[in-house]
Amino acid sequence: MKQNNNNNTDKIKKYIVQTYGCQMNEHDSEKISWILEAMGYVLTDDIKECDLIIYNTCAVRKSAEDKVFGKLGELKQEKRKNPDLILAVCGCMMQRQEVVDIITSKYRQVDIIFGTNNIHKLPELVNTHLNTGKTIIDIVEDTKQINENIDANRKYDFKAFVNIMHGCNNFCTYCIVPFTRGREVSRAPQNILEEIKGLADNGCKEVTLLGQNVNSYGKTLEKKYSFPDLLRDINQIDGIERIRFMTSHPKDISDELIDSYGKLDKLCNHLHLPVQSGSNKVLNLMNRKYTKEDYLNVIDKIRKINPDISITTDIIVGFPGEKEEDFEETLNLVKKVKFDSAYTFLYSIREGTPAAKMEDQIPDKIKHNRFQKLLDVLHEIGLKENESLLNKEVSVLVEEISKNHEDTLSGRTSSGKLVHFKGSKRLIGNIVNVKVDNVNTFTLEGTVI
Ligand code: SAH
Ligand code: SF4
Ligand code: F3S
Repeated sequence: MKQNNNNNTDKIKKYIVQTYGCQMNEHDSEKISWILEAMGYVLTDDIKECDLIIYNTCAVRKSAEDKVFGKLGELKQEKRKNPDLILAVCGCMMQRQEVVDIITSKYRQVDIIFGTNNIHKLPELVNTHLNTGKTIIDIVEDTKQINENIDANRKYDFKAFVNIMHGCNNFCTYCIVPFTRGREVSRAPQNILEEIKGLADNGCKEVTLLGQNVNSYGKTLEKKYSFPDLLRDINQIDGIERIRFMTSHPKDISDELIDSYGKLDKLCNHLHLPVQSGSNKVLNLMNRKYTKEDYLNVIDKIRKINPDISITTDIIVGFPGEKEEDFEETLNLVKKVKFDSAYTFLYSIREGTPAAKMEDQIPDKIKHNRFQKLLDVLHEIGLKENESLLNKEVSVLVEEISKNHEDTLSGRTSSGKLVHFKGSKRLIGNIVNVKVDNVNTFTLEGTVI
């Protein structure tokens, strides 16, 4: 049995949370950090003085999982040097029994395994482990068990992630998320609005609303209340100046949401709308439930309302059955839409999903070739889109001192573009106007006006 440090006031307990995956996981880690600090733990970046390490994992692609297994392997040494170190793993990977089995058999240095829906139980799990010395496993599948009363230790005061829903019911054939995050459930509007009011009272200017498919927000609520209703109500909260959201699914995007872009002054000048492929055959195999034409139609409608809106997307290359002509259709769609930027992924087989069993899996070499071609086209378009901003004025929420230059600040435009400019760090947290002097494929450079 380990010494129960929880009741030991002599030594300050230190923790590290390492996060993999999407914003949903980043935000879960902010909640984990809040819980740990309420337990008396203090953040450190030095593994040698650490009492508790938590890996918050992602299962979306094999590469994400491999990273975690690699890290857990490395920690065996650490555990040998410091047997009192508690090693916990949580997040999407843990929602899969196969992964839990691998960890309990091959990574026995792990002390606590928990999932995405029971973060609130962390203090109990840590204490049980300390009191028994046993490996504690606690996984809950039901998203309705998610506890609403956990706050988050957010990285910035001026911008915040806010969950509006949990889970996903879409079962795109390549995707593991519906299996790791469970069934879709919307948070009550009053809880979301209260959370955002509280954030605004503490100086928050920008909120990013999180859900796997925000366009279906409200479907599990008793009263009729949709995503555009929620946006309208958030738009009225004093202090909030920018509203973002991730992610919206093209099949559920409503005219009402599109109209919101013309009505709500705080809605950012950006829509992230994952298309995944430009081929109707592939979209059908992916179970995306829209066609290339539907997608282009949405883009047309939204550009009629807001011609300058920045459109970004996700694209998967090398889905099973993707022929050269299907890939060409993706390239054509990219050229038509002129995406400002895109997250691009090599299709990764996820055991348990329908696509894993599909015939005609694409060889790695072909995937990589197509991936490179796609990047070349995307980068050329992205640069041109950025060039259209040269000498224009953009409003920027100043976020931090630039990673590479101490006298340079960085922040984001309403359209989500990263801007670097010289200025005093006192500007951090403010929205300032910047004239764009120079552009690159991924960033803008400018001067504060
Ligand atoms: N709910 C969001 C996406 C969450 S996953 C949506 O539907 O838009 C983020 C992205 O990862 C997806 O949009 C997809 O492009 C990519 N992705 C998911 N599963 C994948 C897989 N098996 N292989 C490669 N990319 C994948
Ligand atoms: Fe995955 Fe599709 Fe759900 Fe997005 S909508 S999380 S891609 S199943
Ligand atoms: Fe996000 Fe990865 Fe889970 S993308 S929802 S952390 S599988």
